[in-house]
Amino acid sequence: MAEAFNSVVLPGEKAARYAALAEEIAAVLAGEPSRVARMATVSSMLAHTFETFFWTGFYVVDPEKPRELVVGPYQGSLGCLRIAFGRGVCGTAALTGQTQVVADVHAFPGHIACDSLSASEIVVPVRDADGQLIAVLDVDSTEPAAFDQVDAAGLEAILTRIFSTAV
Ligand code: SME
Repeated sequence: MAEAFNSVVLPGEKAARYAALAEEIAAVLAGEPSRVARMATVSSMLAHTFETFFWTGFYVVDPEKPRELVVGPYQGSLGCLRIAFGRGVCGTAALTGQTQVVADVHAFPGHIACDSLSASEIVVPVRDADGQLIAVLDVDSTEPAAFDQVDAAGLEAILTRIFSTAV
């Protein structure tokens, strides 16, 4: 087990902060195969590292209904339980397999407002070691245009390392 996590010691510059956080997350999760434990830990460490992250969590592909997402581990206010592929930002990320960066959620067709305080969001597909979609990571902010390509690259790198690499 790594020493106690303290985001204060991480670099302030965003790309460097993501890179350092990736190391911290990998250290905490070394040897832990549980997907739930991994998702819970990633949600917590992300939410406690970036002050702009208002809702941080996973919607997982339901094994019983493969075209539907069901809420998984998260940090934040009450989230919607289920999202069909193609619906809202999460459903679009699941359907297309592409990261979605949305500067203004109110301008996104079909956006699902679980919490009216959300103003912008980023949703990143999560794949297993075989390349199969297993979930999406959804991060919402109360600030407009809170996310950019640095967030996309930083989050994609963490998710690839933690979920697409054999433990
Ligand atoms: N914003 C998401 C819905 C999930 S919640 O915001 C937690 C969407 O439109 O996909």
